[in-house]
Amino acid sequence: MLEIAPGFGRWTQFLTGLAQRLIIVDLSETCIAACRQRFAGAGNISYHVNDGRSLTAVADRSIDFAFSFDSLVHVEADVLQAYIAELSRALAANGVAFLHHSNLGAYPDASNPHMRAASVSAERAAAACEGAGLRCVAQELVSWGPDASVLSDCFTVLTPAGSAWDGEHRLIRNPDFMAEAACSAAREHLYARASAGVSASVLAEE
Ligand SMILES: C[S@@+](CC[C@H](N)C(=O)[O-])C[C@H]1O[C@@H](n2cnc3c(N)ncnc32)[C@H](O)[C@@H]1O
Repeated sequence: MLEIAPGFGRWTQFLTGLAQRLIIVDLSETCIAACRQRFAGAGNISYHVNDGRSLTAVADRSIDFAFSFDSLVHVEADVLQAYIAELSRALAANGVAFLHHSNLGAYPDASNPHMRAASVSAERAAAACEGAGLRCVAQELVSWGPDASVLSDCFTVLTPAGSAWDGEHRLIRNPDFMAEAACSAAREHLYARASAGVSASVLAEE
């Protein structure tokens, strides 16, 4: 697996348990150093500082799953396009990537409280995938923040043409994303406690 822009490892903590090998790439030396320290006990992560647009640490056709969340929303179209081109080289034949990026380009007159990249839209990301020989198979447009009328963000799923995940482009508009996230967050502690080592018998006694 590959994670682009992990920051301090908020999602890395989950990916490491799901991957045989996990490559994390961030342009911040501070973040990569923090992840190296945080995940010192995990033997399957390799750590790389990059230039903010390329994946030179990643071998051709080596990635089954690439992931990036809450980071590429700020990158402009040239950087997103560069990463998509790199993914077309790095993804395995049946690989798939999930990228969270801006959709603010679809709202030229909207305010921009979360500093989304103005040159990026879901449509432009899909076109970049096609231009790189990839297929953009799913896109979810979501709001970020209290204004549900502006779907400023997009989750894009892409895969090599002809892969097991290839299919027609599907897109949904989801103005309820923030409410759904809040609902999940309110219940998360129920399941986090069980996975933190509390035995079933202790839970049954309560
Ligand atoms: C807000 S943090 C989020 C980190 C993590 N994904 C999370 O959800 O907690 C943004 C991270 O993206 C990294 N970043 C921003 N632009 C990047 C780029 N073009 N290439 C690689 N990393 C980038 C920053 O260095 C920072 O670590």
